Amino acid sequence: VCGIVGYVGHRQALDVVIGGLRRLEYRGYDSAGIAVLTGGDLVVERKAGRLANLEARLDEVGREGFAGTAGMGHTRWATHGAPIDRNSHPHRDTTGRVAVVHNGIIENFVALRGELESAGIEFSSDTDSETVAHLVARAYADGETAGDLPASVRAVCGRLEGAFTLVVTHVDEPDLIVAARRSSPLVVGIGDGETFVASDVAAFIEYTREAVELGQDQLVVITRDGYEVLDFHGEPAPAKPFTVDWDLSAAEKGGHEYFMLKEIEEQPEALANTLRGHFVDGRIVLDEQRLADQDLRDIDKVFVVACGSAYHSGLVAKYAIEHWTRLPVEVELASEFRYRDPVLDRDTLVVAVSQSGETADTLEAVRHAREQKARVLAVCNTNGAQIPRESDAVLYTHAGPEIGVASTKAFLAQIAANYLVGLALAQARGTKYPDEIAREFRELEAMPEAVRRVLGTIEQVRALGRDLSDSKAVLFLGRHVGYPVALEGALKLKELAYMHAEGFAAGELKHGPIALIEEGLPVVVVMPSPKGRAVLHSKLVSNISEIQARGARTIVIAEEGDETVRPFADELIEIPAVPTLLQPLVSTVPLQVLAAEIARSRGYDVDKPRNLAKSVTVE
Ligand code: F6R
Repeated sequence: VCGIVGYVGHRQALDVVIGGLRRLEYRGYDSAGIAVLTGGDLVVERKAGRLANLEARLDEVGREGFAGTAGMGHTRWATHGAPIDRNSHPHRDTTGRVAVVHNGIIENFVALRGELESAGIEFSSDTDSETVAHLVARAYADGETAGDLPASVRAVCGRLEGAFTLVVTHVDEPDLIVAARRSSPLVVGIGDGETFVASDVAAFIEYTREAVELGQDQLVVITRDGYEVLDFHGEPAPAKPFTVDWDLSAAEKGGHEYFMLKEIEEQPEALANTLRGHFVDGRIVLDEQRLADQDLRDIDKVFVVACGSAYHSGLVAKYAIEHWTRLPVEVELASEFRYRDPVLDRDTLVVAVSQSGETADTLEAVRHAREQKARVLAVCNTNGAQIPRESDAVLYTHAGPEIGVASTKAFLAQIAANYLVGLALAQARGTKYPDEIAREFRELEAMPEAVRRVLGTIEQVRALGRDLSDSKAVLFLGRHVGYPVALEGALKLKELAYMHAEGFAAGELKHGPIALIEEGLPVVVVMPSPKGRAVLHSKLVSNISEIQARGARTIVIAEEGDETVRPFADELIEIPAVPTLLQPLVSTVPLQVLAAEIARSRGYDVDKPRNLAKSVTVE
């Protein structure tokens, strides 16, 4: 889950690498480190904690000692070894001539470390990554690969088990950097007289939008003049060039205090961009459709597999997809899916939803589904990531880069994309007439404007957030599509404000959770439409009156003009009236704002909640 950057070019590597790390810090912020080749020497500095600690350290020791035009850096999300200075990357061999940064987990590192220690090598960290530095140094020193850094790295990759992305330098090869990929992502950025490698294009978007995505078990050698991609046998390998379709401004805060606040405001565009181009000549079209129409017609069951917020987007979509297609839809946590022997065959469609496209649990679920011959469709926000690469079809969400660790605009875009999948299935199966599909699409198209209206009224929610910042816990209740919205609201609050938060299906209240209600406990209730879902609405009104009678402070999210609920709401947050199935796209927004504001009032970093990282590339 770490962020890695490598650079060979004509600029000061220190500046390029630190700038890149700043944009990758969302991937992990337990520690940061850099290594620069400075004409015959390799200088390294690393520091536990945020990148700012490393920068302060560089100021202390003086940046002039880091002059050089090739270098690399790392921001870490700790797996093996506590987040302290000596476990920070880059790691070096005992002579200090090789430096390595690593993302992933080397599963056989205990055996490798034992072997190196028996050969007399002393380790200076508790990490699995350090083994790579020693192994490369030895491979470069003698034997068949002596004096050949790419061949040495290749030989070492052949000995590693698990997932890894590596960037390696050697003092004796000051004009090149070698990087290798198994599982965790790696992209090359192609500039003019300069070349980059990084775990995400955001690291080099300031300099170039021309990129190449490395495939599995590939290695790249970068120099000032370009790059060469090889497989782990040393043969030239194909790699996929692409042009990034967003620019630097999308990866910057643009005057906002936090990325997350900017991303909440970008939700109307995220929705509009995700829908754009998917309704052509009266038909729903997906992006990379490697499934024939007949395959879609034959589908008799749908699974949505995902983690966290993406999983909640699947829970929302279940209501729509079942309603439109009359197909059974199961929504499952990716981490559970493959361990319980799900019933899958050629006629099962597995929809894998992932913002990053690299979440290990979801990727493994995709692999399991494909082994069982199921069809896999990825809903993904990251072009060319591993999950779409391994899927039969892809529908990209065009939310743009999401840098705040807590998902916001990608979540809304995932709901919209899942709905497009539902409409594509309904179209293929003929369970909806073309004019009905057209109407549903038009209703979706009206949602960016509805979200914009919600965003225009969030000051009240901010004030409420400040008011709730001392609460110990918050409960969230909803029914029907409001239930996953309640789960999402609770997840946002947990991860950002470190507050105990639970989401419940309101109908379950009397089966247990009502025992939690006590004087002053804030309870957020997501109300269905009084017209669209009259029966559920009246049941929820009863639920609210029951909890209010027991002392809860009720915070009610309800459709504009819902007068029935007003007397039961200690705080009423109004949202525009929209079709029931689309309500999550508006009702989620105040919950995002509420969580962010509570976290801010408590003095927490909204973009980088503790213990978390944006992409979870380990299971
Ligand atoms: C919550 C959050 C996470 C992600 C989850 C899946 O705010 O961001 O729960 O939704 O880790 O990540 P992706 O979508 O990248 O697979």
